[in-house]
Amino acid sequence: MSDLVTVSELTRSFRPGPPAVDHISFSVRRGEIFSLLGPNGAGKTTTIRLLSGLIYPTSGEVRILGIVTTDSSQVEEIHNAIGLLPEVPGLYESLSAMQNLRFYGRMHSLSEATINERARELLAAFDIWGRRDDRVATYSKGMKQKVAIVRALLHDPECLILDEPLSGLDPEAAKSTRDFLVDQRRRGRTVIVSTHNLDDADRLSDRVAVIRSRLLALDTPSQLKSRLFRARVEVRMQNGSPSVLDRVRSLPGILHASWEPPSLILELAEPESELPEVISTLVRAGLRLQYVTPMEHSLEDVYLKLVDDARGRAGAGP
Ligand SMILES: Nc1ncnc2c1ncn2[C@@H]1O[C@H](COP(=O)(O)OP(=O)(O)OP(=O)(O)O)[C@@H](O)[C@H]1O
Ligand SMILES: [Mg+2]
Repeated sequence: MSDLVTVSELTRSFRPGPPAVDHISFSVRRGEIFSLLGPNGAGKTTTIRLLSGLIYPTSGEVRILGIVTTDSSQVEEIHNAIGLLPEVPGLYESLSAMQNLRFYGRMHSLSEATINERARELLAAFDIWGRRDDRVATYSKGMKQKVAIVRALLHDPECLILDEPLSGLDPEAAKSTRDFLVDQRRRGRTVIVSTHNLDDADRLSDRVAVIRSRLLALDTPSQLKSRLFRARVEVRMQNGSPSVLDRVRSLPGILHASWEPPSLILELAEPESELPEVISTLVRAGLRLQYVTPMEHSLEDVYLKLVDDARGRAGAGP
Protein backbone atom coordinates (compact mmCIF):
# COMPACT_ATOMS: atom_id res chain seq x y z
CA MET A 1 0.00 0.00 0.00
CA SER A 2 1.50 3.37 -0.99
CA ASP A 3 1.45 6.48 1.18
CA LEU A 4 -1.08 9.16 0.32
CA VAL A 5 -0.08 11.62 3.01
CA THR A 6 3.37 12.13 4.51
CA VAL A 7 3.93 14.36 7.50
CA SER A 8 7.54 15.23 8.31
CA GLU A 9 8.67 16.93 11.51
CA LEU A 10 5.45 18.94 11.46
CA THR A 11 5.51 21.81 13.95
CA ARG A 12 3.07 24.66 14.51
CA SER A 13 3.26 27.36 17.16
CA PHE A 14 0.63 30.02 17.73
CA ARG A 15 2.41 32.13 20.26
CA PRO A 16 5.49 32.04 22.48
CA GLY A 17 5.46 28.87 24.52
CA PRO A 18 5.29 25.21 23.63
CA PRO A 19 4.08 24.45 20.08
CA ALA A 20 0.54 23.08 19.57
CA VAL A 21 2.03 20.47 17.23
CA ASP A 22 5.62 19.53 17.90
CA HIS A 23 7.82 17.66 15.41
CA ILE A 24 5.22 15.08 14.43
CA SER A 25 6.04 12.63 11.63
CA PHE A 26 3.82 9.91 10.17
CA SER A 27 2.48 8.60 6.89
CA VAL A 28 -1.06 7.68 5.98
CA ARG A 29 -1.40 4.78 3.57
CA ARG A 30 -3.74 4.83 0.64
CA GLY A 31 -6.97 3.06 1.56
CA GLU A 32 -6.64 3.04 5.34
CA ILE A 33 -8.68 4.57 8.14
CA PHE A 34 -6.23 6.50 10.28
CA SER A 35 -7.30 8.00 13.62
CA LEU A 36 -5.82 10.87 15.59
CA LEU A 37 -6.46 10.49 19.29
CA GLY A 38 -5.50 12.84 22.07
CA PRO A 39 -6.87 14.85 25.00
CA ASN A 40 -8.39 18.33 24.65
CA GLY A 41 -5.76 20.74 23.41
CA ALA A 42 -3.51 17.92 22.17
CA GLY A 43 -3.24 19.43 18.69
CA LYS A 44 -5.69 17.22 16.75
CA THR A 45 -7.58 20.08 15.13
CA THR A 46 -4.34 21.94 14.47
CA THR A 47 -2.94 18.82 12.77
CA ILE A 48 -6.10 18.45 10.68
CA ARG A 49 -5.95 22.12 9.62
CA LEU A 50 -2.29 21.65 8.70
CA LEU A 51 -3.07 18.47 6.75
CA SER A 52 -5.75 20.21 4.75
CA GLY A 53 -3.65 23.31 4.06
CA LEU A 54 -5.93 25.68 6.00
CA ILE A 55 -2.92 26.81 8.01
CA TYR A 56 0.78 26.49 7.33
CA PRO A 57 3.44 24.82 9.48
CA THR A 58 5.92 26.83 11.49
CA SER A 59 8.39 24.18 10.34
CA GLY A 60 8.26 20.75 8.76
CA GLU A 61 5.86 19.82 5.98
CA VAL A 62 2.81 17.89 4.87
CA ARG A 63 2.63 16.24 1.45
CA ILE A 64 -0.60 15.00 -0.06
CA LEU A 65 -0.20 12.99 -3.26
CA GLY A 66 3.39 14.18 -3.12
CA ILE A 67 2.38 17.85 -3.21
CA VAL A 68 3.54 20.10 -0.36
CA THR A 69 0.47 21.81 1.13
CA THR A 70 2.20 25.21 1.06
CA ASP A 71 2.74 25.03 -2.71
CA SER A 72 0.26 27.69 -3.83
CA SER A 73 0.65 26.70 -7.48
CA GLN A 74 -0.99 23.32 -6.76
CA VAL A 75 -3.65 24.35 -4.30
CA GLU A 76 -6.45 23.13 -6.59
CA GLU A 77 -5.03 19.61 -6.84
CA ILE A 78 -4.94 19.41 -3.06
CA HIS A 79 -8.45 20.81 -2.67
CA ASN A 80 -9.78 18.29 -5.16
CA ALA A 81 -7.97 15.41 -3.49
CA ILE A 82 -9.37 16.07 -0.01
CA GLY A 83 -12.80 16.35 1.54
CA LEU A 84 -12.64 18.23 4.82
CA LEU A 85 -14.99 18.22 7.77
CA PRO A 86 -13.77 21.06 10.00
CA GLU A 87 -14.24 21.14 13.78
CA VAL A 88 -17.24 23.48 13.35
CA PRO A 89 -19.48 22.76 10.35
CA GLY A 90 -19.10 26.30 8.88
CA LEU A 91 -22.20 26.18 6.67
CA TYR A 92 -24.04 29.24 5.35
CA GLU A 93 -26.85 29.33 7.89
CA SER A 94 -29.17 31.50 5.79
CA LEU A 95 -28.96 29.07 2.87
CA SER A 96 -30.59 25.66 2.64
CA ALA A 97 -28.62 22.41 2.65
CA MET A 98 -29.11 22.15 -1.12
CA GLN A 99 -27.93 25.73 -1.69
CA ASN A 100 -24.85 25.10 0.47
CA LEU A 101 -24.05 21.97 -1.49
CA ARG A 102 -24.61 23.68 -4.87
CA PHE A 103 -22.29 26.50 -3.86
CA TYR A 104 -19.64 24.07 -2.76
CA GLY A 105 -20.08 21.77 -5.76
CA ARG A 106 -19.60 24.69 -8.15
CA MET A 107 -16.38 25.59 -6.33
CA HIS A 108 -15.21 22.10 -7.26
CA SER A 109 -16.38 22.60 -10.85
CA LEU A 110 -18.95 19.82 -10.58
CA SER A 111 -21.80 19.93 -13.12
CA GLU A 112 -25.33 20.76 -11.89
CA ALA A 113 -26.38 17.20 -12.76
CA THR A 114 -23.55 15.70 -10.72
CA ILE A 115 -24.25 18.00 -7.77
CA ASN A 116 -27.95 17.10 -7.80
CA GLU A 117 -27.30 13.39 -8.12
CA ARG A 118 -24.60 13.23 -5.41
CA ALA A 119 -26.54 15.53 -3.05
CA ARG A 120 -29.66 13.40 -3.42
CA GLU A 121 -27.79 10.18 -2.78
CA LEU A 122 -25.83 11.51 0.22
CA LEU A 123 -28.60 13.56 1.86
CA ALA A 124 -30.87 10.52 1.60
CA ALA A 125 -28.17 8.28 3.12
CA PHE A 126 -27.88 10.71 6.02
CA ASP A 127 -31.64 10.97 6.37
CA ILE A 128 -31.98 14.70 5.68
CA TRP A 129 -33.24 14.65 2.10
CA GLY A 130 -36.69 15.68 3.35
CA ARG A 131 -35.25 18.87 4.93
CA ARG A 132 -32.98 19.78 2.01
CA ASP A 133 -34.72 23.06 1.20
CA ASP A 134 -34.98 24.36 4.77
CA ARG A 135 -32.53 27.00 5.93
CA VAL A 136 -29.56 25.51 7.78
CA ALA A 137 -30.24 27.94 10.66
CA THR A 138 -33.35 25.86 11.42
CA TYR A 139 -31.41 22.56 11.68
CA SER A 140 -30.39 20.77 14.86
CA LYS A 141 -26.69 20.45 15.71
CA GLY A 142 -26.56 16.84 14.49
CA MET A 143 -28.28 17.76 11.23
CA LYS A 144 -25.71 20.49 10.56
CA GLN A 145 -22.98 17.97 11.23
CA LYS A 146 -24.54 15.60 8.72
CA VAL A 147 -24.75 18.30 6.03
CA ALA A 148 -21.11 19.18 6.67
CA ILE A 149 -20.16 15.51 6.25
CA VAL A 150 -22.15 15.38 3.00
CA ARG A 151 -20.32 18.50 1.83
CA ALA A 152 -16.96 16.79 2.52
CA LEU A 153 -18.05 13.79 0.43
CA LEU A 154 -19.74 15.69 -2.40
CA HIS A 155 -16.85 15.75 -4.87
CA ASP A 156 -15.95 12.12 -4.07
CA PRO A 157 -12.47 12.99 -2.83
CA GLU A 158 -9.58 10.58 -2.68
CA CYS A 159 -8.91 11.45 0.96
CA LEU A 160 -11.39 12.37 3.68
CA ILE A 161 -10.06 14.45 6.57
CA LEU A 162 -12.69 14.61 9.28
CA ASP A 163 -12.42 16.43 12.60
CA GLU A 164 -14.58 14.50 15.10
CA PRO A 165 -17.09 13.34 12.50
CA LEU A 166 -19.29 11.50 14.99
CA SER A 167 -19.62 14.32 17.49
CA GLY A 168 -23.21 15.44 17.93
CA LEU A 169 -24.64 12.42 16.13
CA ASP A 170 -27.17 10.11 17.76
CA PRO A 171 -26.17 6.41 18.05
CA GLU A 172 -28.01 5.44 14.88
CA ALA A 173 -26.49 8.26 12.83
CA ALA A 174 -23.06 7.55 14.35
CA LYS A 175 -23.33 3.92 13.30
CA SER A 176 -24.40 4.74 9.76
CA THR A 177 -21.57 7.28 9.50
CA ARG A 178 -19.07 4.66 10.70
CA ASP A 179 -20.45 2.20 8.14
CA PHE A 180 -20.16 4.92 5.53
CA LEU A 181 -16.49 5.47 6.35
CA VAL A 182 -15.79 1.73 6.19
CA ASP A 183 -17.50 1.73 2.80
CA GLN A 184 -15.25 4.59 1.67
CA ARG A 185 -12.25 2.45 2.60
CA ARG A 186 -13.70 -0.47 0.65
CA ARG A 187 -13.82 1.84 -2.35
CA GLY A 188 -10.11 2.56 -1.90
CA ARG A 189 -10.57 5.98 -0.30
CA THR A 190 -8.31 7.12 2.52
CA VAL A 191 -9.90 8.38 5.74
CA ILE A 192 -8.22 10.46 8.45
CA VAL A 193 -10.36 11.17 11.51
CA SER A 194 -9.83 12.76 14.86
CA THR A 195 -12.00 11.44 17.62
CA HIS A 196 -12.50 11.34 21.36
CA ASN A 197 -14.46 8.15 21.12
CA LEU A 198 -12.01 5.40 21.86
CA ASP A 199 -14.45 2.61 21.03
CA ASP A 200 -15.01 4.16 17.62
CA ALA A 201 -11.28 4.47 17.02
CA ASP A 202 -10.85 0.85 18.07
CA ARG A 203 -13.61 -0.47 15.83
CA LEU A 204 -12.90 1.75 12.85
CA SER A 205 -9.19 2.38 12.55
CA ASP A 206 -6.51 0.46 10.78
CA ARG A 207 -3.98 2.56 12.68
CA VAL A 208 -4.15 5.04 15.52
CA ALA A 209 -1.81 7.94 16.27
CA VAL A 210 -1.97 9.08 19.88
CA ILE A 211 -0.80 12.68 20.11
CA ARG A 212 -0.24 15.21 22.82
CA SER A 213 1.58 17.93 20.86
CA ARG A 214 4.11 15.19 20.14
CA LEU A 215 3.42 11.80 18.65
CA LEU A 216 3.15 9.42 21.61
CA ALA A 217 2.44 6.22 19.72
CA LEU A 218 1.38 5.02 16.29
CA ASP A 219 0.23 1.49 15.58
CA THR A 220 -2.77 -0.74 14.98
CA PRO A 221 -5.18 -0.81 17.92
CA SER A 222 -4.30 -4.44 18.73
CA GLN A 223 -0.53 -3.84 18.52
CA LEU A 224 -0.87 -0.83 20.81
CA LYS A 225 -2.68 -2.97 23.33
CA SER A 226 -0.23 -5.86 23.30
CA ARG A 227 2.81 -3.56 23.26
CA LEU A 228 1.73 -1.70 26.35
CA PHE A 229 0.12 -4.41 28.37
CA ARG A 230 0.95 -7.99 29.20
CA ALA A 231 -1.58 -10.69 28.46
CA ARG A 232 -3.95 -11.27 31.37
CA VAL A 233 -6.15 -14.24 31.95
CA GLU A 234 -8.95 -14.82 34.42
CA VAL A 235 -9.26 -18.35 35.82
CA ARG A 236 -12.56 -18.64 37.65
CA MET A 237 -12.97 -21.54 40.03
CA GLN A 238 -15.65 -23.05 42.20
CA ASN A 239 -13.50 -23.96 45.18
CA GLY A 240 -10.55 -21.57 45.04
CA SER A 241 -8.83 -19.75 47.90
CA PRO A 242 -5.82 -17.41 48.25
CA SER A 243 -3.59 -20.44 48.78
CA VAL A 244 -3.94 -21.22 45.07
CA LEU A 245 -1.41 -18.43 44.48
CA ASP A 246 1.37 -20.58 45.98
CA ARG A 247 0.64 -23.31 43.43
CA VAL A 248 0.93 -21.10 40.35
CA ARG A 249 3.57 -18.53 41.29
CA SER A 250 6.45 -20.92 40.77
CA LEU A 251 5.26 -22.06 37.32
CA PRO A 252 7.26 -20.89 34.29
CA GLY A 253 5.96 -17.82 32.46
CA ILE A 254 3.85 -16.41 35.29
CA LEU A 255 4.73 -12.73 35.58
CA HIS A 256 2.12 -11.88 38.17
CA ALA A 257 -0.69 -13.65 39.97
CA SER A 258 -3.43 -12.25 42.18
CA TRP A 259 -6.52 -13.66 43.88
CA GLU A 260 -9.72 -11.75 43.16
CA PRO A 261 -12.44 -14.05 44.51
CA PRO A 262 -13.64 -16.27 42.96
CA SER A 263 -10.94 -15.89 40.29
CA LEU A 264 -7.24 -16.14 39.87
CA ILE A 265 -5.88 -13.34 37.68
CA LEU A 266 -2.65 -14.21 35.88
CA GLU A 267 -0.27 -12.15 33.81
CA LEU A 268 1.64 -14.36 31.43
CA ALA A 269 4.46 -13.84 28.99
CA GLU A 270 3.00 -16.20 26.37
CA PRO A 271 -0.43 -17.48 27.38
CA GLU A 272 -0.90 -19.91 24.48
CA SER A 273 2.16 -21.95 25.44
CA GLU A 274 2.06 -21.47 29.21
CA LEU A 275 -1.61 -21.84 30.09
CA PRO A 276 -1.95 -25.62 29.49
CA GLU A 277 0.59 -26.32 32.25
CA VAL A 278 -1.13 -23.84 34.59
CA ILE A 279 -4.51 -25.43 33.97
CA SER A 280 -3.34 -29.00 34.51
CA THR A 281 -1.50 -28.00 37.70
CA LEU A 282 -4.68 -26.48 39.07
CA VAL A 283 -6.81 -29.46 38.06
CA ARG A 284 -4.29 -31.91 39.60
CA ALA A 285 -4.52 -29.89 42.82
CA GLY A 286 -8.26 -30.58 42.92
CA LEU A 287 -9.46 -27.16 41.82
CA ARG A 288 -12.69 -27.11 39.83
CA LEU A 289 -12.29 -24.59 36.99
CA GLN A 290 -15.43 -22.89 35.72
CA TYR A 291 -13.83 -20.95 32.88
CA VAL A 292 -10.53 -19.50 31.64
CA THR A 293 -10.93 -16.18 29.83
CA PRO A 294 -8.43 -13.78 28.28
CA MET A 295 -8.95 -10.28 29.72
CA GLU A 296 -8.98 -7.74 26.91
CA HIS A 297 -7.46 -4.35 27.43
CA SER A 298 -9.43 -1.61 25.77
CA LEU A 299 -7.98 1.14 23.65
CA GLU A 300 -9.07 3.38 26.48
CA ASP A 301 -6.55 1.66 28.79
CA VAL A 302 -3.84 2.23 26.18
CA TYR A 303 -4.79 5.84 25.62
CA LEU A 304 -4.98 6.70 29.31
CA LYS A 305 -1.63 5.04 29.96
CA LEU A 306 0.10 6.85 27.10
CA VAL A 307 -1.34 10.25 27.97
CA ASP A 308 -0.65 9.73 31.64
CA ASP A 309 2.97 8.69 31.01
CA ALA A 310 3.47 11.72 28.75
CA ARG A 311 1.97 14.01 31.37
CA GLY A 312 4.32 12.52 33.94
CA ARG A 313 7.32 13.17 31.68
CA ALA A 314 6.37 16.73 30.72
CA GLY A 315 4.86 18.07 33.94
CA ALA A 316 1.70 20.19 33.79
CA GLY A 317 -0.15 20.78 30.51
CA PRO A 318 -3.23 19.67 28.60
N1 LIG B 1 -5.85 29.91 16.38
C1 LIG B 1 -5.21 29.64 17.51
N2 LIG B 1 -4.60 30.62 18.21
C2 LIG B 1 -3.93 30.37 19.37
N3 LIG B 1 -3.81 29.12 19.89
C3 LIG B 1 -4.41 28.11 19.25
C4 LIG B 1 -5.13 28.31 18.04
N4 LIG B 1 -5.61 27.10 17.62
C5 LIG B 1 -5.19 26.20 18.53
N5 LIG B 1 -4.47 26.79 19.50
C6 LIG B 1 -3.83 26.11 20.66
O1 LIG B 1 -3.22 24.92 20.18
C7 LIG B 1 -3.40 23.87 21.12
C8 LIG B 1 -4.03 22.68 20.39
O2 LIG B 1 -5.36 23.00 20.05
P1 LIG B 1 -6.25 22.07 19.12
O3 LIG B 1 -7.52 22.79 18.82
O4 LIG B 1 -5.44 21.62 17.98
O5 LIG B 1 -6.51 20.83 20.10
P2 LIG B 1 -7.47 19.57 19.93
O6 LIG B 1 -6.62 18.38 20.16
O7 LIG B 1 -8.22 19.65 18.66
O8 LIG B 1 -8.45 19.73 21.17
P3 LIG B 1 -10.02 19.37 21.33
O9 LIG B 1 -10.06 17.92 21.70
O10 LIG B 1 -10.46 20.23 22.48
O11 LIG B 1 -10.73 19.67 20.06
C9 LIG B 1 -4.22 24.42 22.25
O12 LIG B 1 -3.33 24.78 23.29
C10 LIG B 1 -4.87 25.67 21.68
O13 LIG B 1 -5.06 26.66 22.64
MG1 LIG C 1 -10.21 19.75 18.18
